[in-house]
Amino acid sequence: MPWAYFLPIIGCFALYWIISTLRLAYPPSVYLELHQKYSPIVRTRPKTVSIADPTTIPTIYGIGSNFLKSEFYTTMAPFYKDEIMNSLFTTRDPAHHKALKRPVAGKFSMTSIRTMEPLVDECSEIFVESMKDLEGQSLDLGAWLQFYAFDVIGMITFNRRFGFMEECKDILNMISSLEFGLKYAGIVGQVPYLHPWLVGNQSMMKAIGRIPFIQLPDPIRSFVEFTEECIDMYDKDEKAKETSDFLTSLRLEEKKHKNSMPYRDLINHLSNNLLAGSDTTAISLRATLYYLIKTPSSYKRLQAEIDEADRAGKLSKFVTYSESLALEYLQVVMKEAMRLHPGVSYPLERLVPEGGAEICGQKLREGTNVGINPVVVYQNREIFGDDAAQFRPERWLEADQEQLKIMERTLLTFGTGTRPCIGKNISLMEMGKFVPQILRQFDLLWASEKPDWTVHTYWFAKQSDFIVKFKTRRK
Ligand code: HEM
Ligand SMILES: *[C@@H]1O[C@H](CO)[C@@H](O)[C@H](O)[C@H]1NC(C)=O
Ligand SMILES: *[C@@H]1O[C@H](CO)[C@@H](O)[C@H](O)[C@H]1NC(C)=O
Repeated sequence: MPWAYFLPIIGCFALYWIISTLRLAYPPSVYLELHQKYSPIVRTRPKTVSIADPTTIPTIYGIGSNFLKSEFYTTMAPFYKDEIMNSLFTTRDPAHHKALKRPVAGKFSMTSIRTMEPLVDECSEIFVESMKDLEGQSLDLGAWLQFYAFDVIGMITFNRRFGFMEECKDILNMISSLEFGLKYAGIVGQVPYLHPWLVGNQSMMKAIGRIPFIQLPDPIRSFVEFTEECIDMYDKDEKAKETSDFLTSLRLEEKKHKNSMPYRDLINHLSNNLLAGSDTTAISLRATLYYLIKTPSSYKRLQAEIDEADRAGKLSKFVTYSESLALEYLQVVMKEAMRLHPGVSYPLERLVPEGGAEICGQKLREGTNVGINPVVVYQNREIFGDDAAQFRPERWLEADQEQLKIMERTLLTFGTGTRPCIGKNISLMEMGKFVPQILRQFDLLWASEKPDWTVHTYWFAKQSDFIVKFKTRRK
């Protein structure tokens, strides 16, 4: 191999190193401080502003607004067969977005989600049995919730459990790959015009991949390749299947209507499920259990609600989605946990459209990057009260109709407007079933030597040091 061959590669590593040390990606606390010190509109980078005023949400994100996603999202776009494969999440073009969404929207509907419950229950059973085995020991609940969430999304997507929980490890390095991908997007997403010289340069990424002993830092590729493998396995299997996972449903749909989804789109949707639906759910489950453990009054109240429903025969062996929706306090506990710890804790970036816009009294030119960080609006005391920084699920039950409407309109945990999370109810189903399933059988005790968990934010706000002991309840 000639020397010159290595130069761009070394350049690529050097460039990535330089931009990572520049600390261009701010943690959420910096956004909070900036807005507390200055106005509700703060310039954070050239041509980029952060907004703290929740009344601007409809302008920036609302249906009918034509603020499109920024270049940030290009840094998360996967490649397939050497070509960019924009997903439902990364695409910035409204026409492409509409075309991608149409054939899969039905799979995310309430009726379809209910049919996925047995796939989730299988994973819950393994989780519960594992906790019985590990009873009394200090365990990394953060890791276990991630194992759980990855196995669940594997079931929902392919009717295939990856085996994270059984093997108790990061299968195919999926977790660490995704973590690198998020870190990369978090950092390079601040200077997205450099992306084509880094992971966005597929010829260079391939060259790096050929160097022995260098682990290819091309995170999303492994998800795409794995998805391909699952589809091929499915297609080779002769047995008729009736499971309600995405892959089976989309294939059956094709047979029925004879309008086949292009193979590329199938790969796109299924791999996107893995990327968008695993970490996010794990983070939100961690937040829910963490705030419960740290807030004994809420823990007791929720446990009492669950026990009462249990005694009244209102909980099945595996708590169903419908049963969980009837647990009023559970629902606000999850909502409040995701308010204090939104899975995405970066500004949701959009571009000011043609003609410019006036936001917070400032005239912004076309192409200005504007975004609201959920963390910032969630600390707004006029909306959530003087105790906005506290975990208090009761606020959602006590607020009058008017106030509740304002609080709901400020929610950005699952995005909003034209580009909301399509998987929201899948996650709420998973979480709503899981939490009572655990709390009805176990007591959870904080078991870390540190008083708190650790959070690192790169787009997702990922927690670690969440060490807990499980004790079987004697009722
Ligand atoms: C608690 C769990 C989850 C959280 C906190 C979450 C959060 C979000 C957020 C904030 C957005 C909007 C991002 C933006 O405006 O830039 C989004 C979009 C999206 N999410 Fe989720 N998500 C979760 C679970 C899931 C699941 C389980 C799936 C799929 C199975 C999923 C699939 C998607 C997709 C496809 C989009 C793009 C939708 C579009 O643009 O039309 N998410 N999610
Ligand atoms: C999601 O679930 C809620 C009930 O929790 C329901 O009101 C809403 O219509 C569902 N959304 C979709 C898109 O089905
Ligand atoms: C991509 O990398 C190759 C070297 O492998 C280099 O020749 C090319 O100029 C790079 N392209 C861009 C857009 O940086």
